[in-house]
Amino acid sequence: MGAEVRRMARLAASMAVCVAAALAMGASPASVDWPNHGGPVDESGFASLDQINRDNVKRLGLDWFLDLPGEVSLEATPIEVGGVIYFSGSYSAVYAVDAVTGRLIWKYDPQLWKRNSPKLQKMFPINRGVAYADGRVFVCTLDGHLTAIDAKTGAALWDVQTLPETSGHYSTGAPRVFKDKVMIGNAGSDSGNRGFVSAYEQATGKLAWRFYTAPGSPEENAGDATQLMAAKTWSGEWWKVGTGGGPWNGLTYDPELNRVYIGTGNSGPYDPRIRSPGGGDNLFLASIVALDADTGKYIWHYQANPREAWDYKATANIITATLTIDGAPRKVLMQTPTNGFFYVIDRETGKLISAEKIGKVTWADHIDPVTGRPVEAANIRYETGETILYPGPLGGHNWQAMSFDPRTGLVYIPYIQLGGRYTTRPVPGQIILGGLTVAAYRDPADPQDGTGALLAWDPILQKARWRVPLDTFWNTGILSTAGDLVFQGTPKGEFFAYDATSGAQLWRFDTGLGMMAAPISYSVGGKQYVSVLVGYGGSAGGSGELLNYGWKYGAQPRRLLTFSLDGKAKLPPSAPPDMIVHAVDDPSVKLDPAQVEEGRKLSLTCLNCHGPGFTTGSGPAPDLRESRMALTPDGLWAVVHDGALRSRGMPAFDWLTRPQVNALYAYIRYAARASIANGGKPDGVGAATSRN
Ligand code: HEC
Repeated sequence: MGAEVRRMARLAASMAVCVAAALAMGASPASVDWPNHGGPVDESGFASLDQINRDNVKRLGLDWFLDLPGEVSLEATPIEVGGVIYFSGSYSAVYAVDAVTGRLIWKYDPQLWKRNSPKLQKMFPINRGVAYADGRVFVCTLDGHLTAIDAKTGAALWDVQTLPETSGHYSTGAPRVFKDKVMIGNAGSDSGNRGFVSAYEQATGKLAWRFYTAPGSPEENAGDATQLMAAKTWSGEWWKVGTGGGPWNGLTYDPELNRVYIGTGNSGPYDPRIRSPGGGDNLFLASIVALDADTGKYIWHYQANPREAWDYKATANIITATLTIDGAPRKVLMQTPTNGFFYVIDRETGKLISAEKIGKVTWADHIDPVTGRPVEAANIRYETGETILYPGPLGGHNWQAMSFDPRTGLVYIPYIQLGGRYTTRPVPGQIILGGLTVAAYRDPADPQDGTGALLAWDPILQKARWRVPLDTFWNTGILSTAGDLVFQGTPKGEFFAYDATSGAQLWRFDTGLGMMAAPISYSVGGKQYVSVLVGYGGSAGGSGELLNYGWKYGAQPRRLLTFSLDGKAKLPPSAPPDMIVHAVDDPSVKLDPAQVEEGRKLSLTCLNCHGPGFTTGSGPAPDLRESRMALTPDGLWAVVHDGALRSRGMPAFDWLTRPQVNALYAYIRYAARASIANGGKPDGVGAATSRN
């Protein structure tokens, strides 16, 4: 070896040490990707980058933005791989964008509206994101098509239908990749559909395995030891009545143990006396289930809510970590399901390590540390026909991901304080699902109800280290970074950075539109960026005034925003929020009370998008009281029955008859008049149920 070569080799070796040291300190090497939905494979939502940090975050500015015409409700957490950002929009379109310049590279549009699947009528259009592996981007559409897309060209490589074509299932979650597979779950539990997760070969789209989160009929379960075990916890004819358990969001791959963890959904019907009259825990509802990554075979389960009865779900993100507990390292997973407890579970065995309430939680006294089962409060199972408890169906924490910073050891949780009223009696204007009407509840005597907080939670001590109160509760998922920063957005359009150790607010940006999606951070060429999608809608539709911040449908542009230190881009001004209902009417139209009443009942079909009683203010569809197209029965018929706005996301309800559309017309007129009489003040009833 010549002297020159030796010198080079020494230099290279010392540089390698430098990079390793820099990485260990969490500094910014040339390029750090955000390759998965939750960032690193542990789904921690943590970026090991510190170029943007506590000391300089004041200098954080908009670097570039990309307008997204045609988009409405943006809930996706983008991913970033090799200098390209990939994300999905409302109607499951996928975008590839240059992560440095913001230039659109390609857009893949599955044109869902052309398929006019009945699934599109059941759920407001949203998609929580894509996955990437080996030059392929994966998306699952609302109507259940899992598609592999060429990351370079945006061309579809293969497409498989993951759902029964005629069932009430639909999909909103991000697929997850591991080894040579891609997995996806589904939703639809509220209407009783049996949930499952499927893994496909990344290369071909061939089904590798499928795991059901609730048992099927005796014939379907035959020979399947896991489903037979689950079936022992059910009674009656659940496979005819409905089960649920849809794993629509939290899925985590564990490379250390070669497992996947599945967070399962709520029951359907909600009232367990209907679906399983002879008792039973009803596995695997509201549970975390560990499966072998290669075979999908059952390993263990932990059920947060045995005999689930309140629309509680364990579908929040699941974070894997190694924590030192009682002096010993433990391989754990952490989750805060909607029931409002923070769980630390041994991921080798599935045994509970600890669980504590993160806020106002009244349904249980505590979780028994020995059995791992909740000690439930009295009369929470609406034995007397009605109960009010906390959290309600929107949860103490929902799909907006919490984040774990391994350096501070803290988990940052978007906390919700809101109750639920559960009654077995029908309530006008609200959906009775499975024998139960479920609505959000705010105690007039508790000013904290209907507010939220950002919690910094110590998972070992099981208590909050600090807490930032927020006057909104439907706040976004969290990004934490090695720069001692925690990022979060709000439905009012505020984007905040906080000090990760104290919770002090360090930075704020006005995005000009309500936010729902979680931010990410990555670096390209030694420069760190923070990116986030801005587009309000989603659950704000079915929730009426509860989530109305005046973001009228289509009034503000939808965007991808990307920030860096000293970023100088400026957002063009957009329309301010408007809380007033600008109802239009034709006073010459006479209303028949019976027809109005029929229209009120039929309007439940429209509730998810247009709001309860047509009172949506800022949902995923326009306020029909303001609609000129709904001023005549013919205009309404053209839109609702004939599908005149199908390509814009208004499904064709071609099964509605002319008298039914006329009844809807009467009810829209009635609602518009009520609003005019009320001076256009925002109104409405509370959330019916949470949808996923
Ligand atoms: C899955 C969501 C969804 C459901 C369910 C839904 N709509 Fe729509 N609707 C939309 C969207 C999105 C638009 C706006 C399309 C556009 O941008 O032009 C719309 C627009 C409309 C319009 C036109 C408003 C205007 O003046 O621009 C009418 C009228 C309407 N819907 C009626 C109904 C009725 C009645 C029902 C129930 C039978 C219903 N919709 C159910 C999503 C939905």
